[in-house]
Amino acid sequence: MAGLHTLGVFLLSFVAAVTWYFYARGQKARKETNPVAAEQKLPDPDPLWDFDLATATTRNHLYVNKTVRWPYFQTMAHQPMHVNNWIEIDKDYKWYIEEKARVIKEKGKVVIDSCPDNDEACGELMETLVDYLPKRYPTLFERIDCPGGGIWNKVTGEKLIGLEGKLGVDALMVCSRLVQDDFLMGLEREDGSVYFTGGLVAFPGFYLLSKKINKSLRIAHAPVPYFNEKLLMSVERTLKRFKPNEPFERTSWEIVDDRNLHWHNMADLDAGQKLPEGFHPKDLFFRVDHQTFRKLPRTKGIIFGVHPIMKRLEDFEDSPLVPMLLAKVHAEGDPKLMNYKVVSAYQDIMMPYLQELTARQIDRGLITGKEEVAAFRELIKDGKYPSTQTSLTQPTESEKYLKK
Ligand SMILES: *[C@@H]1O[C@H](CO)[C@@H](O)[C@H](O)[C@H]1NC(C)=O
Ligand SMILES: *[C@@H]1O[C@H](CO)[C@@H](O)[C@H](O)[C@H]1NC(C)=O
Repeated sequence: MAGLHTLGVFLLSFVAAVTWYFYARGQKARKETNPVAAEQKLPDPDPLWDFDLATATTRNHLYVNKTVRWPYFQTMAHQPMHVNNWIEIDKDYKWYIEEKARVIKEKGKVVIDSCPDNDEACGELMETLVDYLPKRYPTLFERIDCPGGGIWNKVTGEKLIGLEGKLGVDALMVCSRLVQDDFLMGLEREDGSVYFTGGLVAFPGFYLLSKKINKSLRIAHAPVPYFNEKLLMSVERTLKRFKPNEPFERTSWEIVDDRNLHWHNMADLDAGQKLPEGFHPKDLFFRVDHQTFRKLPRTKGIIFGVHPIMKRLEDFEDSPLVPMLLAKVHAEGDPKLMNYKVVSAYQDIMMPYLQELTARQIDRGLITGKEEVAAFRELIKDGKYPSTQTSLTQPTESEKYLKK
């Protein structure tokens, strides 16, 4: 059940984001009589010459955009994406790439697959990445001039060559060696509906690519409450219309209990079941999925990139008001929505801990405790957001304890 619910949240928020996007630019789009403009190509990203992989973190999405919103307006969750922000790389890069390889080896088609009509788009996605990475991260990646072309991943030491003409799963396998992100892919088919047609989804947490592939948005959304015909139509319209030079991004969040990005332990809990005795709430993770939306110019493939980023609750100790914000969202959030997030599994152990963190912030003078939680960004005076990001390479204390 948990899986279904979480997928529901993902889809629902996706729908909301897309609907808002359409609304925001709807009028303009409608007036453009010739959408197939020549200049739909995104500019090149700016190079990060001083990129330090050992200390790199992603942007702190909690601050750079409205990951946790209070009051909660689902429709305000998305923003146009600068090309620089398409692919973020952080200090756990190697761990993600290795973990992805392990999951692909174990699960195969369940996590990496492509319908025949999607194979070309996989090739174009691979080309797009191979073009992007050496431009954005010149110290980590280098193009190889060889027959078929290639890319040298200096972090893993791998040289991926003979890429030209790679399609379908072969192309997705190359992508899996390059970035932390997963890619769920969609296409508009002849019947005018958008279908999930493939992808590389090793780290979904709560759902499986194999349950979505070759399904229309309509079918894939069937279990999602609040979803109706009207909404579906505007989502599809947006996905068909948004152009390669109009990428957008959003984030979603969840509390999860372990580092298994592929399938969290919690995903197997039945309604009402709780986390095991001995689990310390400081080791709950706040999982942010950075979702990126791009349209490929040649194949018209719709690319949903997803990069899961994990912070332990303990890491919020130095983020003023954030523990209070999380507590408020849980205590007063829409019960239906909170249910989708499997809140009952962890709420009892998390809430007292959040109160403890808040009390400590008051003691330290970080906050007075009287602030509006929505103002948490304003407490960061120098514009330097706390950039805490737990490394996933080591098990948490709770994980070690429970393994015993
Ligand atoms: C966050 O998103 C809003 C739109 O929802 C946008 O106006 C704002 O500039 C974004 N903030 C940052 C720091 O990107
Ligand atoms: C996708 O679904 C359609 C009909 O539901 C079926 O005819 C087709 O063979 C499926 N394609 C793949 C690649 O599974």
